[in-house]
Amino acid sequence: MIMNSNIHDVAVITAEEVMALNFINLSPACHLRRYFRQGLRSHIFEVLDVCDVSKETQGELSKGVRWFPRAVPQKMLRILRTRFSQLSQALDEVNKYTMILKFLGPEFIAVSQEFIVEYHGANGSEIILCGLQEYVQGKALDPWDLSGDNPIDIFFQRHFPGQNSGGKSVKKAIESISFFVKKVKRMAMDEGYIPDLAGNGNLIITARGELKLVDINNIIKVHYNEKIFLDDKKYPSCDKSVEVLAILEQKVMKNKFFLDGQLYRHFFSTERRQRVKELEEKFYQNW
Ligand SMILES: Nc1ncnc2c1ncn2[C@@H]1O[C@H](COP(=O)(O)OP(=O)(O)OP(=O)(O)O)[C@@H](O)[C@H]1O
Ligand SMILES: [Mg+2]
Repeated sequence: MIMNSNIHDVAVITAEEVMALNFINLSPACHLRRYFRQGLRSHIFEVLDVCDVSKETQGELSKGVRWFPRAVPQKMLRILRTRFSQLSQALDEVNKYTMILKFLGPEFIAVSQEFIVEYHGANGSEIILCGLQEYVQGKALDPWDLSGDNPIDIFFQRHFPGQNSGGKSVKKAIESISFFVKKVKRMAMDEGYIPDLAGNGNLIITARGELKLVDINNIIKVHYNEKIFLDDKKYPSCDKSVEVLAILEQKVMKNKFFLDGQLYRHFFSTERRQRVKELEEKFYQNW
């Protein structure tokens, strides 16, 4: 029970438990539902319109047929598990979010209204970072599952059947990916930060072909030295995120000379790739 444990560590919290948290004051017009997908660093909830939930559960009549349309979230509520001992640390996180918003723009990230709250839990008063985020309806892009000469075409055939091969959405998705890669590379070079692109479900493609980064609280410092950065889960997330950019350049953008760039030259030495592979294997063994 959340009362006796802590929001940072507890594996699962229910919508009812979130509603009882001291910093939540939900409008009666909204309904909270735990999202069916979760990561390791946040608790994620759908914020739904009660009328939509009622249609989903009670159904609605249309042309004599009762339909049960899925309630689409109005927003996503993220409660970060991260422990902040000082307010400045939470503000640093918010600054990183502001930075990716500046570099990628609202077109390429699920925009979030970040807010810092005082949480009264088992350990007394603590700082928590939350976000009310735009919900992105689409399918996760797995960079390691891009096959064939036209991988985005295959992605659309698999996830959005019925769309024309090489159609408008496929073209838009390829264009979105190209812009996204360029913008992320600029951020990595100019600011020395890269978003975690390697995590499961971090990148979503919509049916219209827009690409959005949804995991916006996981921004990694890029160190141009020999040390391989491991994140709090002991995953080489910086090197793997650079790898995602390279895969997209090679397989989607068809850029034959992508490895010439400074970013890749640093991260893609044979010796470094081997060390990253070993660290990754270790991560999965301990999983
Ligand atoms: N705004 C959003 N719209 C749609 N899906 C989302 C949104 N935010 C998160 N998701 C999905 O929820 C799942 C978990 O999200 P996310 O990766 O951001 O979790 P996390 O706990 O913050 O991070 P981590 O992956 O580092 O553990 C992913 O599958 C992601 O696609
Ligand atoms: Mg993630």
